[in-house]
Amino acid sequence: MQQVNLGIIGGGTVGGGVFQAIQRNGELMASRLGIWPNVVKMAVRDVHKKRAVKIPKTLLTADWSSVISHPEVNLVVELMGGTTTAREATLQALKLGKPVVTANKALLSAHGEELFAAAQKSGANLYYEASVAGGIPIIKVLREGLIGNRITRLYGIVNGTCNYVLTRMKLGGADLPQVLADAQRLGYAEAEPSLDIDGYDAMHKIGILASLAHGFWVNPKEIYVEGIRGVTALDIQFAGQLGYTIKLLGIVKRNDVLPNGRTCPPIQVSVYPTLIPNTHVLASVNHVFNAVYVRGDIVGDTLYYGRGAGQDATASAVLSDLADAALDLKHKTRSRIPPFVPHERQGAVLAMAHVISRYYVRLSVVDRPGTLARIAAILAKARIGISSVIQPEGHEGESVPLILMIHDASNEAMQKALEKIARLPVVKERPVMLRVENFD
Ligand SMILES: NC(=O)c1ccc[n+]([C@@H]2O[C@H](COP(=O)([O-])OP(=O)(O)OC[C@H]3O[C@@H](n4cnc5c(N)ncnc54)[C@H](OP(=O)(O)O)[C@@H]3O)[C@@H](O)[C@H]2O)c1
Repeated sequence: MQQVNLGIIGGGTVGGGVFQAIQRNGELMASRLGIWPNVVKMAVRDVHKKRAVKIPKTLLTADWSSVISHPEVNLVVELMGGTTTAREATLQALKLGKPVVTANKALLSAHGEELFAAAQKSGANLYYEASVAGGIPIIKVLREGLIGNRITRLYGIVNGTCNYVLTRMKLGGADLPQVLADAQRLGYAEAEPSLDIDGYDAMHKIGILASLAHGFWVNPKEIYVEGIRGVTALDIQFAGQLGYTIKLLGIVKRNDVLPNGRTCPPIQVSVYPTLIPNTHVLASVNHVFNAVYVRGDIVGDTLYYGRGAGQDATASAVLSDLADAALDLKHKTRSRIPPFVPHERQGAVLAMAHVISRYYVRLSVVDRPGTLARIAAILAKARIGISSVIQPEGHEGESVPLILMIHDASNEAMQKALEKIARLPVVKERPVMLRVENFD
């Protein structure tokens, strides 16, 4: 029986979970792999801190660099989080030719290109299954299971906090601040929730999936991001009446049009609250669960569902990478299929202005004859078609809601038309615009 010697940096939620999972299932892994996972050292910030998962004091150190350079450590597991020291640690390990397993989506989003280039140069791999959708093995799906497919569509509900909040808003009819406060109390949302609620965590994950699916590293600055702060209980209710559920959806869509002189069409990579038809399976992904829906040109539609975060789900993903890395070390190979291979030189992200979508628009208007005609005239002039108009009953007062469902239009055209509509004297509040996905 061979042994793989692990140096783990980070003993918090995920690090503790990985240590615990190795205690529980290390023997099972060894019997499956012929390699025993052995933790040699663990770095934490404070070695005296009381921890939920008991880690022997002899393993702990506050010096992360000594873990990497430890002569017995042949595989480094980065679970400290952040992008500065984590980058330094990952580069240091790769330079020493030691493979690295990471769960750090922020690190990969910001420095993925540099880190994969360093891995390529060093001959050691960088593994990152736990960085996207926790317990769902979606990296392996894209990297191995669907390798013979062009990925034409990928839709992900990849942030458990937002999904929990939107689910509770739908079920309870409550607005975001109230539900968010509950989520914080129950531990489903951070005290400082903006990374989740403003869509940046989903952006990190969707960028990684888009990069892997399309073979070029997507710059996070090019990903269009809208979080869920603007979603109200009223819009969730109206969407429901129209047969839709609102989800924070990451979308990676290969454009069908191939611009002149290009071998690869630009890819839509975005994160925004989206109306999903209730008949679509993603509409039923509730609470903290995640799901990724992938369409390959050969396989067709596929769906992956599970817990997207948390100690055990994330530890499970880290163990999967440990197994891959251990086998590579055992056979003195790089992975049969390396974790990321840049293969699309002409890859580019489609500017949001050119993304075509359907829309839900809620206006607050004066209830008077001619109002709809003036709004419709602006849309008609912009060549934007209305598919239906609903004026929900039971609303009285100076202004009433008017809901428009809009046919396919570019984001640029839609934004310009809405600016004009907002200036009409009969329109009393800033229009609400949400995009609708029909999964064509
Ligand atoms: N939590 C999840 O559900 C989840 C899911 C998927 C991915 N991830 C990713 O996994 C990573 C870890 O997340 P986490 O939730 O486990 O974070 P965490 O609970 O805050 O744990 C971070 C650990 O790193 C240690 N650490 C921080 N800076 C250090 C330094 N300079 N030197 C040595 N040790 C240091 C901390 O030490 P102390 O314990 O002494 O403070 C702690 O043990 C992040 O990249 C996160 O994005 C997390």
